[in-house]
Amino acid sequence: MREWLKHNSPVDGEDLERHDKWLCMMWPRLHLLKELLSDDGAIFVSIDDNEQHHLRMLMDEVFGADNFVTNVAWWSKYTLSNDAKRVSYQHENILFYAKSVNEFQIGLLPRTEKMDKAYKNPDKDPRGVWKATPLHAKSGRDSDRYSVTFSNGVTWDCPPGRFPRYNKDRLLDLYHDGQLYFGKNSITQPAKKTYLSEVKGGKTVGSLWSYEEVGSTHESNEEVSSIFGKGVVGNPKGTKLLKRIIQVANIGPDDIILDSFAGSGTTGHAVLALNKEDGGNRKFILVECEDYADSITAERVRRVIGGVPSARDASLRDGLGGSFTYCTLGDPIDLEGMLTGESLPEYGELAAYLLHVARVSVGGGALARLDDDGLFYRGEKTAYYLLYEPDLAYMGSNAAMLDEERAKRISAAIRAEGRKAVVFGAGKYISQRDLTDLGITFCQLPYEMHRAGA
Ligand SMILES: C[S@@+](CC[C@H](N)C(=O)[O-])C[C@H]1O[C@@H](n2cnc3c(N)ncnc32)[C@H](O)[C@@H]1O
Repeated sequence: MREWLKHNSPVDGEDLERHDKWLCMMWPRLHLLKELLSDDGAIFVSIDDNEQHHLRMLMDEVFGADNFVTNVAWWSKYTLSNDAKRVSYQHENILFYAKSVNEFQIGLLPRTEKMDKAYKNPDKDPRGVWKATPLHAKSGRDSDRYSVTFSNGVTWDCPPGRFPRYNKDRLLDLYHDGQLYFGKNSITQPAKKTYLSEVKGGKTVGSLWSYEEVGSTHESNEEVSSIFGKGVVGNPKGTKLLKRIIQVANIGPDDIILDSFAGSGTTGHAVLALNKEDGGNRKFILVECEDYADSITAERVRRVIGGVPSARDASLRDGLGGSFTYCTLGDPIDLEGMLTGESLPEYGELAAYLLHVARVSVGGGALARLDDDGLFYRGEKTAYYLLYEPDLAYMGSNAAMLDEERAKRISAAIRAEGRKAVVFGAGKYISQRDLTDLGITFCQLPYEMHRAGA
């Protein structure tokens, strides 16, 4: 990524390959993100108009056009820039895809007081408050139209240009069940009573998200300034917007939210704030490749956890609580280089890489040789050994070999602890059959490394 940025960033507006370059950068990342998504998960990518249409095609390709949910327009700027060349740009696009639309269940937004206020109970219906909804709809077939006279003497005729919402039998059932309302004096044209208890427990999500509900760019800047002071971070998102995304993505109370372009860490802040509000235990993973990963991204999270004394918001002042681990990536392991002996990683780096490949999770912290036989990690059932030094002379010597004497020592140690052993090494002077009897599995390190040093 750093290499890419060094050569391509900022991508020159005159560069005819600029879109290609950008797409080449995004392509593998989107594939990886898709792999990491749970089957009922969703991805949201905020993008301005420059690359929106390219990204949409790319995401159609990677996630499948059927899994496109919508392109949310976030009305992020409420002022117009008078110095805009042609149009003052006031919104951002948020491309929203499900990993699989059939598995994904969209989250509803909390109902507002205003929405519930429309429900009343003038006829003291025991089923509770209701709202009048018409008996007709805008589409249907002419042959479905009918007229009906109820036993209270009122005749209902479907209005011109409209079509019945219910067939005649169903309408009469509703009438006999007291679900039609004929006005205060019981003589006006009827409407169906739609009970609050019947409506879905939340508000349907729209595709236009206004700054009034999810905050503006200005508000997001203010939010970060209240933590770091002015001008430290450019173009952050706001926690209100991220909270909305978390709601719509239907994130469960124990789910994980990944932001692979974390910037100022708004996502971590929003997750912690939501957890504090509703007692949830959502977790976040933030990834940032720039040097400010520690000083800004992680620092924001540290500050909001511990409390920001100068913050106006009381819960931010007191601190949102929670915890996280800050990890950095080690140098990449150059497998080709290892094969030829040109580039030999440090002992701890190689040990961590081997455990990673073996799908053993050890959390953070460096790995080191724990005894003379190369023990570096004790798992629950297996102990891991690595016979290695980043030195070709050593790797070519008998000291780097697994021989019978060493194998027996390892076997005695692991058997006393009720474990088996995996030994990584450049070579062995004992057959795997004998090793199996000793409870040891041998894994070969790149062979050339040994030969190159011999
Ligand atoms: C527009 S900013 C994100 C702003 C963020 N949403 C916020 O609220 O502050 C994009 C960030 O992604 C980072 N970035 C770009 N490519 C990345 C990559 N491959 N891995 C990690 N971070 C990356 C950039 O350094 C930048 O900080």
